[in-house]
Amino acid sequence: MNKTPIAVLISGRGSNMNALIEACARSEYPARIALVLSNNPDAAGLETARQAGLATLAIDHRLFPKDRTGHEKAIDEALTRAGVKVVCLAGYMRVLTPYLVGRWSGHMLNIHPSLLPLYPGLDTHERALAAGDSRHGCTVHLVTDGVDEGPILQQAEVPVLSGDTADSLAKRVLEQEHQLYPAALAAFLSFCGWLPCCKRKMTH
Ligand code: GRF
Repeated sequence: MNKTPIAVLISGRGSNMNALIEACARSEYPARIALVLSNNPDAAGLETARQAGLATLAIDHRLFPKDRTGHEKAIDEALTRAGVKVVCLAGYMRVLTPYLVGRWSGHMLNIHPSLLPLYPGLDTHERALAAGDSRHGCTVHLVTDGVDEGPILQQAEVPVLSGDTADSLAKRVLEQEHQLYPAALAAFLSFCGWLPCCKRKMTH
């Protein structure tokens, strides 16, 4: 099958990346990982990706003091060099500038641990508990300039149980994230190339 080359951008442990690695290993899955890239050379996920035989690259943001665009230009060049068509943010902990978002508009996805538009930003599980919500979950969305604001592709819900802590809730949501991201990416790839706004040929 003609698989779309994707990049996964991480900053830390990379468990969502790992879910994408496992999905991409299936012959019928419509994507393959062309590059795992991190702003953090010490991200544990980089080693996981290496052990899976994937190309990895760290572009340390600290080497670009006060130059976010310079950092993003280096990332963009690496993505283009690797032939990437779709970028999946998976625990990438840098707020992007309009430069990189614009370069990958309509071709960049993110996973967020809340039922957006509820709780963009950090500490989503704490905020859901503090609000007394009975349902919580995760969202895969397209990336636009506003943080966690882009069009929603898919969501998965979990119940909030009595006695839940932020940690227990995070664990339950994370299990859903690992199902949701591969499913949402596959669904996105099935229609993305057909949209009039699609500027990139999706496979080689
Ligand atoms: C996940 O909860 C994801 O939704 C959020 O950051 C966390 C990353 O976890 N954007 P991991 O690195 O994928 O394990």
